[in-house]
Amino acid sequence: MHRSLALLAGCLVPLSVATPLEKRNDFAAPPGGDVDILNYALTLEYLERKFYQEGLQNYTENDFTAAGFTQDFYTNLQKVYSDEMTHVTFLSADLGAKAVAEPTFAFPVKDARSFVSLASVLEGVGVSAYLGAASSIANKDYLTAAASILAVEARHASYLRAALGEKPFPGPFDTPLDFDQVYSMAAQFITGVAPGTKLPFIAFPPLTAAPANGGFCAGQTTLTFTGAQAQALKSGKVTQDTKVYAVFYSGLQAFYVPVREFRRVGIRTQVPANRSIVDCEDPRRQLCHGGQPAPAGQTYVTLNTADGKSAKASDENTIAGVALLEVSC
Ligand SMILES: *[C@@H]1O[C@H](CO)[C@@H](O)[C@H](O)[C@H]1NC(C)=O
Ligand SMILES: *[C@@H]1O[C@H](CO)[C@@H](O)[C@H](O)[C@H]1NC(C)=O
Repeated sequence: MHRSLALLAGCLVPLSVATPLEKRNDFAAPPGGDVDILNYALTLEYLERKFYQEGLQNYTENDFTAAGFTQDFYTNLQKVYSDEMTHVTFLSADLGAKAVAEPTFAFPVKDARSFVSLASVLEGVGVSAYLGAASSIANKDYLTAAASILAVEARHASYLRAALGEKPFPGPFDTPLDFDQVYSMAAQFITGVAPGTKLPFIAFPPLTAAPANGGFCAGQTTLTFTGAQAQALKSGKVTQDTKVYAVFYSGLQAFYVPVREFRRVGIRTQVPANRSIVDCEDPRRQLCHGGQPAPAGQTYVTLNTADGKSAKASDENTIAGVALLEVSC
């Protein structure tokens, strides 16, 4: 999910369909109901807390100013860390003996700037996680508490995005993600869980693509997935003849883009890594996204066997994900 690990580029071909994000079964409450949901939230908060704790240990105030951030940036990061610590304490207190133990984590961060990039991504994923979980929360008091945390994660995300020179609020709607989608991204950073603390969620085979060179333009930039075909075949959910769609999630919409040449790429592993499997065939952006608002900001992608018409994307028909890209134009 780190930008350098993920892939990038949004391109929506004329055939793509954008559909409102319908209520899918994937958003249904997990077996343990609110306890599972709170433990899911707690796991994400543990992740964020650990991330900021390490980052503030690793990098000094000077490292951040040398990387181009403002004088007060470090102090604000400390406040973000403090908020995440408070979220952990709050959720743990509510869960009491039912709280999951903290997993161990590892983060692919190499300097102050990549730390801030990943921080921004994690805050955005946090927002999407709380948003996606909202409709499954049974107890209204928990719902208010979760929304209250969500709002603060969104403020963190906006602040960090602005600090990175990205649009602080790129679209009118934020993007709900389901439990397995979020868990798939979080799992990339989880190196171990305490015995008996397994959450009832699964991680899809990871989806990666060419490294980012700045932002991606909807309808213009070519998206390249690396290794996706091998992962998909391994999953057993597809054969070399299955039609595969890249599903882009942005705001309340999902965009289904036929993946071209999946079959060839799937067969020919010697095809250059940068060979595109999604192309935009129309240089005019409007046609590329069918007149719908284009994806903007932090956008998520899964590979699915659903085409958006006869079947909607679901956890069952997801063959890889979740990749992340920053759509900036
Ligand atoms: C902090 O530094 C340690 C030791 O180099 C490294 O393992 C870890 O990934 C870093 N974490 C962050 C968030 O910078
Ligand atoms: C992929 O192709 C694009 C466009 O030709 C190029 O800008 C980019 O550097 C290439 N990426 C890799 C990883 O080769």
